[in-house]
Amino acid sequence: MTERAEEGKEEGRHPHHPSPEEIRKRIEREKEEIERRLENVEHVLIVMSGKGGVGKTTVTVNLALCLAEDGDVGVLDLDIHGPNVPEQLGVDEPPKASPAGLFPVKGYHDVRVVSIGTMLEDRDLPVLWRGPRKSGFVREVLVKTQWGDLDYLIVDMPPGTGDEIMTGLEMLPERARNVLLVTSPESLARADVVKAGEAVRRMEGNLLGLVSNMHGIICPECGATIEYFAEDHSEKLAERLGVEVLARIPLDPEAKLRSEEEGKPMVLAAPDSRAAEAFRELAERVKEAL
Ligand SMILES: Nc1ncnc2c1ncn2[C@@H]1O[C@H](COP(=O)(O)OP(=O)(O)O)[C@@H](O)[C@H]1O
Ligand SMILES: [Mg+2]
Repeated sequence: MTERAEEGKEEGRHPHHPSPEEIRKRIEREKEEIERRLENVEHVLIVMSGKGGVGKTTVTVNLALCLAEDGDVGVLDLDIHGPNVPEQLGVDEPPKASPAGLFPVKGYHDVRVVSIGTMLEDRDLPVLWRGPRKSGFVREVLVKTQWGDLDYLIVDMPPGTGDEIMTGLEMLPERARNVLLVTSPESLARADVVKAGEAVRRMEGNLLGLVSNMHGIICPECGATIEYFAEDHSEKLAERLGVEVLARIPLDPEAKLRSEEEGKPMVLAAPDSRAAEAFRELAERVKEAL
């Protein structure tokens, strides 16, 4: 064993393991680099939810496209296990890596995308990473990505309050910790959303508001709204979290069908749909809230 390793052992540490002080310094250095990277990004918006499948990615991509109508927009996909952003925004290529950093690839409406979904050799293989590796990935893309000048950067998160979210919120400067919580009106989502909201508060994030998705179903035949959940819990939730419901987006089967057929998000594939209208409304409310 080398002398250094012996030393480490004597102190009760794993040989060559960085000390807490060394780790703290490295994190501080990375935070400064991230702040510099985001200097020309006007607004950062993080899309979170307590549950999976409530529409985070759908909100992210449709909102990004609405905001791209009169601004430069980027999307960072931090859903490491289920990265759906590239496909939805028409991006197939990995970000371009150079010594200067990682350069996003442009999708529909020139929205700039970075996602692990295009960075893996085989896209169908699962990412089997534990916490530290996931946190490392989040820090790496935040440190390396050259977003250039952006009006809005939207970060799509996995559900819950795990590593990606904790590291993301920890590493982003305070001004960038604006969070949009996506929920559905059903009672099941309630406890999860309250937890997610509380996590944002504890990590000193700025909760901008709630998005109530799947808010009634639009009948493809007659256009009537079919109630799907017995009670709308989103209003009470918003009250409890001290924020507003910024938008109510209906579950729109017709718009979804057109979206799948065209391989484009609803605001592009079905711009005249009620869902698209609700997304445009959301974009306006987000602009006001930021
Ligand atoms: N308002 C909506 N109208 C129709 N389909 C929707 C709507 N919101 C979400 N979906 C569909 O529901 C599924 C889950 O949405 P997704 O955005 O992937 O959720 P999450 O990112 O929260 O896991 C997707 O197939 C999506 O197309
Ligand atoms: Mg998603």
